[in-house]
Amino acid sequence: MKISINKAKKTLLGNRRRGYTLPTNNKLYPAQWNWDSGFIALGYSYFNLNFALKEINTLLDGQWRDGMVPHILFHNTKTNYYPNYTAWNCGNKIHSSGITQPPILATILKEILNKNKINKKQLLNIKKIIKKIKKFHEWFIKFRDPKKTGLVSILHPWESGYDNSPIWDEPMNKVKIEKNIKYKRADNKVVNPEFRPLDIDYDRYVTIKNNLRKLKYNPKKVYKSSFFNVIDVGFNSIFLKANKDLVELLDTFGLNKKKIDNYIRVTEKNFLKLYDKKRKTFFSKDIKNNKKIYIPSITNYFLLFADLNNEKINKRLIQNLKKHNLKEKYFFSSIKSNHKSFEEKRYWRGPIWVNCNWFIYKGLKNKDRLFSDKIKNKTIQMLEKKGFFEYFSCKSGQPMGAKNFSWSAALYLDLKLNKN
Ligand code: DGY
Repeated sequence: MKISINKAKKTLLGNRRRGYTLPTNNKLYPAQWNWDSGFIALGYSYFNLNFALKEINTLLDGQWRDGMVPHILFHNTKTNYYPNYTAWNCGNKIHSSGITQPPILATILKEILNKNKINKKQLLNIKKIIKKIKKFHEWFIKFRDPKKTGLVSILHPWESGYDNSPIWDEPMNKVKIEKNIKYKRADNKVVNPEFRPLDIDYDRYVTIKNNLRKLKYNPKKVYKSSFFNVIDVGFNSIFLKANKDLVELLDTFGLNKKKIDNYIRVTEKNFLKLYDKKRKTFFSKDIKNNKKIYIPSITNYFLLFADLNNEKINKRLIQNLKKHNLKEKYFFSSIKSNHKSFEEKRYWRGPIWVNCNWFIYKGLKNKDRLFSDKIKNKTIQMLEKKGFFEYFSCKSGQPMGAKNFSWSAALYLDLKLNKN
């Protein structure tokens, strides 16, 4: 047991650079990623609170003037990652991508504050952080939900973090690939290409990105004209939970919470419109093509994490979740394994991801303690046996993708050491 805790700490420290931490040190992701940094900060908070706060501060140093926090910050420009800073061609103070990622900072910060003693200097710093996070959330409300429906859109699959999930298959099929598109992938030279997205996926990722760039990342214009615009259940669950946590933080620090509070109420109400009573499942919505998306993705269960104020729905979600991975030895597969889109080894089309298990574990804790403990223990066992890899097969537990993966190590520390 001790060995793995030390190994987890060493993994994070080994991936640490000046003020931020790489998702892995195997050259696959040579920059700072938005939600990775959130999980990483939580990991540091178990042994170095200053590193935790520094991780968040560095990420927020790259915040755009309009409030957006980019999905990637390119602190080091001499890497062969694609798309690199020149392909994005944007950023405020720090070169960055022009899209965002799931906003988990408020949730992470609340977790950190719940269990740490904070000194005066750190408190001042934290207040500044909270103001920046608030600006980030207000950016979402203003620009990603212009009609104030309580649900926000993502404009690129990369914004979800679950890049090549089958959730995006239909909207992506509609994206017409740019003529004579030219670029050079680096990811599939570092990791077995069978574990990575396909070339045709990349053609579309790059097509969408190039269009956003052409629109100069103007937040109003991209909402209207991106080739991809989806309201996703998982993403909105994370945002709803983050808004709830943000309200508590604003309260504690005597800051104005009215706007966020009101928004939460609209979200709680309108989320139920994404529930299909006949099928007894939630669906995501392809705004661009006006279509409903029904894919049995584990990310739909992030709703448990959002703590929807509806016991009946929560019960139904738990019932369905118990059937998600019935036949598999390891769980949770990112896609239900009997679904036609399931691929055991390809990135977000089947493998187990530790952050998904973490969201669901946290969401279940106050609803079904026995089940949540089982998820926690199985995840811990898998990591102790297989190591801190990026993702795992639900059939054999085979570890895949990057090794020394920061969020697997960081969330291991939280699962193992969190006393709450
Ligand atoms: C990648 O490069 O695979 C990332 O997921 C994009 O954000």
